[in-house]
Amino acid sequence: MNVRHFLTLTDFTPAELMYLMRRAIELKAMLRRGERHEPLKGKVLGMIFEKSSTRTRVSFEAGMVQFGGAAIFLSPRDTQLGRGEPIEDAARVLSRMVDIITIRTFEHNKVELFARYSKVPVINALTDLHHPCQLLADIQTFIEHRGDIQGRTVAWVGDGNNMCHSFIHAAKQFDFQLRIATPPGFAPDAAIVKSAGTRVTVMEDPMQAAKDADLIATDVWASMGQEDQQAARAQAFQAYQVNAELMHKAKPDALFMHCLPAHREEEVTAAILEGKHSVVWDEAENRLHAQKALLEFLLVGQVN
Ligand code: CP
Ligand code: NVA
Repeated sequence: MNVRHFLTLTDFTPAELMYLMRRAIELKAMLRRGERHEPLKGKVLGMIFEKSSTRTRVSFEAGMVQFGGAAIFLSPRDTQLGRGEPIEDAARVLSRMVDIITIRTFEHNKVELFARYSKVPVINALTDLHHPCQLLADIQTFIEHRGDIQGRTVAWVGDGNNMCHSFIHAAKQFDFQLRIATPPGFAPDAAIVKSAGTRVTVMEDPMQAAKDADLIATDVWASMGQEDQQAARAQAFQAYQVNAELMHKAKPDALFMHCLPAHREEEVTAAILEGKHSVVWDEAENRLHAQKALLEFLLVGQVN
């Protein structure tokens, strides 16, 4: 059988994704009960990170330790990748030594190229185009707080970035309505929007997007690699802040999500981030549980 990769949410079927959600919730309960579960004893995760990370790095490393395995963090500063060794060569070498690989990088086609040459599963730990691991945690968080997300309405407010693209895939795979409000010139990739059919609507008015939504989600206005655009973007996104007025448009029990790190008083006010709608700390914790479900699925298969 061909080796399975997780480069976007569309690499898995809706049924497989729902399994991951059930399993993540189960693994979380097992960990809370102090149950030892070591299905990856002796297995090694290679972690190539060309961008900074707190949550993704720590959740993968902690997850491997809890599962009885190990993780090796590989920064381009200290490996030959940073000195221009071709991706194809690194993929062939590393995948003969480790059992699974996670990559955080800039261009999405780099992870695709790596996966093509890898003998072992490759997980996308964020590219300029997608952040699928974050969506596993986000959907798990929604389910834990509000039950099934199928048929619900989600508003994405802000940049049409990697997180927005993964939310679009999530709308398709988990079958919910997604309203995206971005300033002119910052809309998500048209082909990705089209792939989700009628489930996704793109607009400019954040109030219209937020109306009666079950969930409002946002992200930073300038992503990693866009630091030089910070000032111009702050200007363009001014009307797209998630604040009390916007949150008030959503359902009274609507949730607020942010993948973090957040910039208080820019894309979200401190009051909303720390307020009753916010589930950002659960989202962050669930990176651990959802990715453990993913690692187990890719290396052991479905267990129940
Ligand atoms: N949300 C997220 O991916 O965080 P890090 O950049 O800290 O990994
Ligand atoms: N859109 C952000 C997400 C960080 C987790 C970035 O790419 O920097």
